[in-house]
Amino acid sequence: MSVLLTGGTGYIGSHTAVELLDAGYDVVLADDLSNSEESVVGRIERICGKRPLFYKADVKDRGILGRIFSENDIEAVIHFAGFKAVGESVGEPLMYYRNNLDTAISVLETMKETGCRRFIFSSSATVYGMNNTVPFREDMPRSSTNPYGTTKLMIEMIMEDLCRSDDTFSCVALRYFNPVGAHPSGLIGEKPSGVPNNLTPYIQQVASGIREKLYVFGNDYDTPDGTGVRDYIHVTDLAAGHLCAMKYSSDHPGFCAVNLGTGTGYSVLEMVRAFEKVNGVKIPYEISPRRPGDIASCYADVTKAKQLLGWQAEKGLEDMLRDAWNWEKNRTGRQESE
Ligand code: UD1
Repeated sequence: MSVLLTGGTGYIGSHTAVELLDAGYDVVLADDLSNSEESVVGRIERICGKRPLFYKADVKDRGILGRIFSENDIEAVIHFAGFKAVGESVGEPLMYYRNNLDTAISVLETMKETGCRRFIFSSSATVYGMNNTVPFREDMPRSSTNPYGTTKLMIEMIMEDLCRSDDTFSCVALRYFNPVGAHPSGLIGEKPSGVPNNLTPYIQQVASGIREKLYVFGNDYDTPDGTGVRDYIHVTDLAAGHLCAMKYSSDHPGFCAVNLGTGTGYSVLEMVRAFEKVNGVKIPYEISPRRPGDIASCYADVTKAKQLLGWQAEKGLEDMLRDAWNWEKNRTGRQESE
């Protein structure tokens, strides 16, 4: 029996593969390599001493997907494959709807046909929209402010409808807060293409001299220091949450949504200061206007994750920022020596 990870060589997929292999699962990765590299497979093997099976595959292609299912006994799917840049989704909505919805529907259709009934989905805290108050609880109303977020919301709804129509399906939507950091080995991590949109990849590039300074998007929010507050979670903690969701799905049919966060929020300036302290590097910054669509505060209520999955985040800000910087140094060092 194997677990299929679509988007398996990406940032969160690769860390989840390590977690599953370490726990003794057989792992199959499918990825079209549009935002990751095949070398990740070998690096996962270096970390765990076991090599996951890899298919270079666009999972919108039902043919390839059918082959993966017929060549392997897939007990569950963790679905990461999808585009994830918020700004890009505003400019290219059709590309986002086509890609993100098609991949999810292809996977679910193939599962329905083959009898595989456990589906774990990488959803996002973005589904809490702009109108809820923190901490965000899973039973709060959902909304979205951009096409990327709408695809997450729509896929959650597809999962709910599927579970209503067929009570043998188990579908778990994991709502990620802000994943940061990298595997402590420095072998796998996030590889942003172009100018990073997210805070820590940007800070990492300022630290390594690729960018001159950080632009802090607004210091007039209703937060303790005026800058945006987010629930940053170490990517290895997040990966461990998938393992717990996998186990949960084996004997809990139906749909459920679970927050994966730490429950604690930190401001942009707290992140800057913590990065400087932990890594001994200066991060010059400048206050700039708010980014459209940003909310003041976003952090999780983590009660359900604890109760339902028996999971909680273990690592703190120091671990996240130390491992993020370690990865950035290793990565840029590798690129220079290549
Ligand atoms: C963003 C997305 C969210 C997505 C998530 C994935 C937007 C509006 N939201 O969340 O939909 O699910 O990434 O990880 O893009 N910041 C700066 N300067 C920067 C970058 C960020 O000050 O150069 C601030 C932001 O204003 C925010 C905080 O840092 O307060 C975190 O930003 P980011 O890492 O982009 O995450 P989110 O906005 O929470």
